[in-house]
Amino acid sequence: MISQFAPAKINLYLHVTGKRPDGYHTLDSLIVFADVGDQITVSPGKDLSLTLKGPFGDTLSQDPNNLVLQAAKKLAEIANVSTGAHITLIKNLPIASGIGGGSADAAATLHALQELWGCEIEKPEIDKIALSLGADVPICLDGSPSFVGGIGEEITRAPKFPKTWMVLVNPGIAVSTPTVFKNRHGSFSKAAPFIKPPQDSQSFIDLLKERHNDLTDPAIALTPEIEAVLEAIAKTKNCLLSRMSGSGATCFGLFKNQQDAQTAQAEISRIHKAWWCVSARLMPAQ
Ligand code: C5P
Repeated sequence: MISQFAPAKINLYLHVTGKRPDGYHTLDSLIVFADVGDQITVSPGKDLSLTLKGPFGDTLSQDPNNLVLQAAKKLAEIANVSTGAHITLIKNLPIASGIGGGSADAAATLHALQELWGCEIEKPEIDKIALSLGADVPICLDGSPSFVGGIGEEITRAPKFPKTWMVLVNPGIAVSTPTVFKNRHGSFSKAAPFIKPPQDSQSFIDLLKERHNDLTDPAIALTPEIEAVLEAIAKTKNCLLSRMSGSGATCFGLFKNQQDAQTAQAEISRIHKAWWCVSARLMPAQ
């Protein structure tokens, strides 16, 4: 049996820089990963099968287009594998929530099944499969903090940043990514990656504050609860930044130390019992 962690991906900032003729938007985003996420396990099987477990497993079972099975089928085809696999997904992250759950699961499936089937697909080819599954799948396959451009296929390693902790908060409302993009109007933003590693937490936060998430307003217009989530996070003690990830509805708060993140998590969970709220550490840049 092979196990693969599928971490939550967080867009620390997200600029929409343009729109391609095929309707996809070009982005400039600093994407990082948390030490909370889903878990994929694979074991030998005659056919391809998927068992869903975990707190959000039931919600996902209503989705017939599960990205995990799509990833497995594409890999089997490219690798010319005739045997199957039994896949188990422990779904800890909320569905359609802007922290890449489905993309992370698909990427983890590609890693785990290559190991199980003993096939290592060349990087350009596996990256192509990843992108065909979704714009966030290539960066989830890569797994390191990076600036992401194009629609998700241009990956540039991010500089090192100081140790950072966070809370992730979701109000329990699924948000449709295409609808949020469709709802975005107005001019485009410039790409704004930074090269020099920020020396301390404050300079890291200052750099992030000069940037933003262009999908926040269109997401709030569709799901007003996001505003309440951002406010609740911003109010917590020693919160350095409160922002939405991806197309929402999950928002994050950043903190200098673990204690502050855990205190914020406890405070938000106490007041907003129906919200999903966890504290986590940002996985460091390599
Ligand atoms: O690639 P993914 O399946 O995550 O994208 C879902 C939808 O979100 C796309 O069909 C597109 O409408 C929109 N999208 C976009 N630009 C991106 C990523 C997603 O317009 N870079």
